Parts: sequence; structure tokens; C-alpha cells
Amino acid sequence: MSGCPYSAPSFPIARQCPFVPPEEYRAFQQQPGPARIRMWDGTHAWLFTRYDDVRAVLGDNRFSGNPGVPGFPSLSAARNAVLDLEPAFIRMDPPEHGHFRRMLTKEFMIKRVEAMRPRIEAIFGRLLDELVRRGPPANLVEDLFLPFTSEVIAGILDVPREDHGFFQEQSRLKVLLDADPAIPKAASERMLSYLDTLITAREKDAQDRDDLLSRLIVEQVRPGNLSHRELVVMAELLLMAGHETTANQMALGVYSFLTNPDQLALLRADPSLLRGAVEEMLRFHTIVHYNAFRVALEDVEVSGHTIRKGEGVVALISGANHDETAFENPERFDITRKAGHHVAFSYGNHQCLGQPLARLELQTVFGSLFERIPTLRFAIAQEAIEGKGDHFVQGLQTLPVTW
Ligand code: HEM
Repeated sequence: MSGCPYSAPSFPIARQCPFVPPEEYRAFQQQPGPARIRMWDGTHAWLFTRYDDVRAVLGDNRFSGNPGVPGFPSLSAARNAVLDLEPAFIRMDPPEHGHFRRMLTKEFMIKRVEAMRPRIEAIFGRLLDELVRRGPPANLVEDLFLPFTSEVIAGILDVPREDHGFFQEQSRLKVLLDADPAIPKAASERMLSYLDTLITAREKDAQDRDDLLSRLIVEQVRPGNLSHRELVVMAELLLMAGHETTANQMALGVYSFLTNPDQLALLRADPSLLRGAVEEMLRFHTIVHYNAFRVALEDVEVSGHTIRKGEGVVALISGANHDETAFENPERFDITRKAGHHVAFSYGNHQCLGQPLARLELQTVFGSLFERIPTLRFAIAQEAIEGKGDHFVQGLQTLPVTW
């Protein structure tokens, strides 16, 4: 921790290797308490990277996740432009947050999601068949994972197939961090406008339909618990959070298996390792690597350090998931480890609502991809595969493969 504000490291800190968190996190983890960091706009915040500290911050409602509260740390101008738009419940604090989240909990419960397994496996099976029929080479991000995750979430919301390309592109633009702020802002506005039109039409015949948006219209909008506009904002969150993240995680999972053939051999020899392998890839990559920005609503002590009211805090789940006090030899991709206590879906009241669905989709992919295409390999040199360094969600630009 530095006493002089001018010597505080700038955040975000660049990764030395695109697929593991910056080495500096490890140095921060050696000291108790947070590190002082300087944000792009010259303000300062407290950075937590230790597993216990990250959970302590994320589990404490005295820290607000509302970017409108003075002192909330700013990641970039492009990110601010997105956060300035109408907030979805992901940016709200209790009790408002719970009011909206509760409308969705039953929809994403494990049991409900498990009932979708046959349909989800059938979608992936069909897309994989088509890929194999077209033959190599392929870009797995565009040719398989984005179509798969988009079809799943769009099916739940009943968003027309011809619009999948549109919402994939808006999601890609919305998570850019270094772009002209007008770009993510316009992308989000286009999505909201699109969903406004879709939901306006859906309001007419919702009682005759059986998709998630129709159920929300009948059960929440009509009785007056949710406004039309609030549903539009909620739908944007679901559609975007529901496909981009999971597709990125799949691409990075394939990358990890192809660069760790011993782990792939283990999985192929013993399919009962599948669930653990999915937890390990979630831990290892922690794709939502900049999510947990908070501001203290009152003085709060964490790990012997008092965060003053109005001070910003960054609690990095990517750091926590690579903390050696919680995961032995954290830089090793090891599908046999017990990784279930990772915080890749965050922790506390904003913990990912879609995690049962994300897990099911990942299990579907890694339960069949390498069996169906056993000779799958990179179509370009491994070093030429680029991580999405400047995105809010970590992933791969493209994943060119052959077989
Ligand atoms: C591998 C895939 C996924 C990962 C790693 C992931 C990760 C996360 C993380 C870290 C958060 C907390 C964000 C924050 O605090 O700012 C979150 C929240 C959320 N995620 Fe996911 N997610 C994934 C897939 C999904 C899917 C498939 C859905 C489907 C609907 C979804 C819906 C949501 C929602 C609605 C929230 C907000 C929860 C709240 O604030 O109460 N996510 N996710």
C-alpha cells in the first residue's frame, strides 16, 4: 500500500500474459488490506485482490454498487457512458435490487434450468452437426459459441432468430472499454429501442404465449409491479448478460484444453470430471474481470483497514480466484481440483442470476465437443490467438480451429 497518492499504480493494470491476471495482483496479495490505486480520471480507489477480502466486500451491503453514488470508481469514459444510462437491477442496492431480482429467481432456479437440458443439448448438437458438415477450418466464437448461447437466451425470451446478429453486435460494442464513449452508449440505446418495440408488440398477446417476457408482462407489468420501461431495461440485461459471457467462457475453455492436452486427456478418459472441469475454467478465466466496483456508504473496516464513507472500492474476483490461500498453485489449469468455491459468478446479492444456465451450457459444450471432433486444434499459431484485453468481459477475439 502506498502512502503517496502520486505513486499509486494506475488501474486497470495490463496483463503480462493475456490469459492470466496481472502479476501485480500476486504482490498485492502478499500484504494485508487493500492497495491504493489511481483511476484514469485521476481519482483514487482501494483495490482488494485477496479471496477473503473480496468476499467480505461483496457480501457487505454497506458497500453500494450504484454508480450514481458519489465516490463510485470509474473504469473508463466508455464505461461511464454505459453506466449513465437507465440502471438495470445489477446496478441497484437493496431493497430496490431485490424487488426486481425476485421477479426472475424462479425462472433461473436449478430445477427449472435442468428441465431445459434436453432442448439445450439438442440446439448444441444441431449446431455442432452443421459445423462438422461444413468442415474445417472454423472460427468457434462466431460459428458455434455465439450462435449457441444466443439461441438459448433468445429462445427463453422469444427474440426472433433474424435479430441474433443485431444483438450480438450491440453487446460486443457495449462492453468496449477504450472506445469513443459514443459507441457503447449508442449500442445500448439501439438495444433498448429494439426491445421497446418488441415488448410493445408482446404486450398485446402476452396472455397467449409462454416465454419469459410474456410471463413478466402478465405477472408483473399488468398488476403494476413493473413498468414497461423497467421491463425493457431488464430484458436488455438478460439478453446481453445471457449470451456474450457464456460464449467467451466457452472460447477460453477450449483454449485452456488445447494448451493443456494432459487435462483434455483426463476429461476424455473420465467424463465424470466434466462438472469440476467447468468450475475450474470459470475460476481460471474469471471472464467478468472488472465487475465489482463499489463505494462505501459509511465507514467500513475490511481486513484491518477502514474504508471511509464515499471512498471507492474495486473488489476483483479475478484476483480472488487466483489467490493461493484459496486455490493451491492458482496459475495451473487443473480440472481435478476442488474449485467450486470460486467467485467467478461474483458473491453477495449480485451473484450471477444466470449461473445454473451458464453451467448447463458449458457442461453441454465440454461434454460433447472433443468427443465429436477429437482432432480439434488451433488453425493458427497459439501465440497468434488474441485475448480481448480492452473489454469489460474477457474472451477471445476469434478462435480459429481445424481438425
Ligand atoms: C460464464 C457465464 C457467466 C459469467 C462468468 C457470469 C458472471 C456474472 C457476474 C460476475 C455477475 C456479477 C456482476 C456484477 O456484480 O456487476 C453476474 C451477474 C448477472 N448475470 Fe451472469 N454470468 C454468466 C452468464 C450469465 C447468463 C447465462 C445469464 C442469463 C440470464 C446471466 C445473467 C446475469 C444477471 C441477470 C446478473 C445480475 C444479477 C444481480 O445483480 O442480481 N449471466 N454474472
